[in-house]
Amino acid sequence: MTDAFTSDLDAALDAARSAYVARNPGSAAALERARRVMPGGNTRTSLWSDPFPLSVASGQGCHIRDVDGHDYVDFLGEFTAGIFGHTAPALAEAMARVHAEGINLSSHTPYEAALAERLVARFPSMELLRFANSGTEANLMALTTARLVTGRPRVVVFQGGYHGGVLTFGHGNAPVNVPFDFAVLPYNDAGAARAEFAAHGPEIAAVLIEPMQGAGGCRAADPQVLQLLRDLCTETGALLIFDEVQTARMSEGGAQARLGITPDMTTIGKFFGGGLAFGAFGGRADIMNHFDPTRPDAIGHAGTFNNNRLTMAAGLAALDHYLTPKALDALFARGEAFRAALNARFDAAGGLFHVTGMGSIMNIHGTGPEAAKRLRLLHFRMQAEGYYFAARGLIALSLPIGAAETDGFLDAIERVLAA
Ligand SMILES: Cc1ncc(COP(=O)(O)O)c(C=O)c1O
Repeated sequence: MTDAFTSDLDAALDAARSAYVARNPGSAAALERARRVMPGGNTRTSLWSDPFPLSVASGQGCHIRDVDGHDYVDFLGEFTAGIFGHTAPALAEAMARVHAEGINLSSHTPYEAALAERLVARFPSMELLRFANSGTEANLMALTTARLVTGRPRVVVFQGGYHGGVLTFGHGNAPVNVPFDFAVLPYNDAGAARAEFAAHGPEIAAVLIEPMQGAGGCRAADPQVLQLLRDLCTETGALLIFDEVQTARMSEGGAQARLGITPDMTTIGKFFGGGLAFGAFGGRADIMNHFDPTRPDAIGHAGTFNNNRLTMAAGLAALDHYLTPKALDALFARGEAFRAALNARFDAAGGLFHVTGMGSIMNIHGTGPEAAKRLRLLHFRMQAEGYYFAARGLIALSLPIGAAETDGFLDAIERVLAA
């Protein structure tokens, strides 16, 4: 480990930042233009990083090119949504075909039931499901369903959890959140869960949890705590909701199949729309049947684009051509091996970084008191080496990433640590 990551950290970070500014005038100009019409030039907070984020012009397979003409291997994969890479032929074919058939036909489509059939077959916890337009919306609807069906107000979530733009619990209940009655518990804390149910059991409509916190730094849930939550919900009549918006890729049946724990409801999003905006929520038939519009007491759930033809058909192509059980298992194994190899490199270089995660989704963390600065420096230097991942350390492998790319990343890490 060089001094750059320890005693000379501030100077090294200043130099890396200056080099980044000098190397990326096109991205700087793109932000300046955007600033005139969007606050801070930004419309998606998670993309922001100082001094300005890269503006990416194009992508092919697992490679992207920024507006200044630099090429990168894409290890971010659209924060897990871009699992296919950028030019998957079956998705291109499906989208072009459906567009030629006509879109916005104000009707049911041949595609939505077909997509729902495949998803229900994969996730036994979703006996019935409904489509939405984002993971955020899927979670909002799942929570609303739980509150209406149970007639209870309280929702248990977890510190570090992220379920969407208005369901964000990185530092407790955020001011931007919807005004539900949230109890924000520590993650992986059996005692806190028991205490919450002891104090408030009859008021709890739902427990909403990620089997691995994604935005919260790729922290995997303790299976014993998940099982405890399963038991507490069963005992009290609260609904256990797994947010598998990220973790659904962990196997054909998501993380829940790997864990062997079946929630009452599941939410998914990201890649099941074949790269287009997508969300879905589903659950036991007795819960979801409340949406049956032939019922006099039906719960309404409208949405112009809930079943839009492009997304439905792209999702169908995605499942049939790319998200096969074999491909997902192989991606999981590739991710586990890559994370282990990365941790071995970091340990050998003094342990100033550590990688957490599950399967193909992982997060590099700095360690020690200067952790954030160290990670920033690593990020600048890896970008200069031609590797793209989130400034906060998130890596999400996509299907086109193979041994050449992961080996290249590991070699670059060694160079950066030794430089
Ligand atoms: C676990 C989880 N839930 C929900 C969401 C929200 O999904 P969307 O960005 O599609 O609204 C995300 C997005 O990153 C997520 O990671």
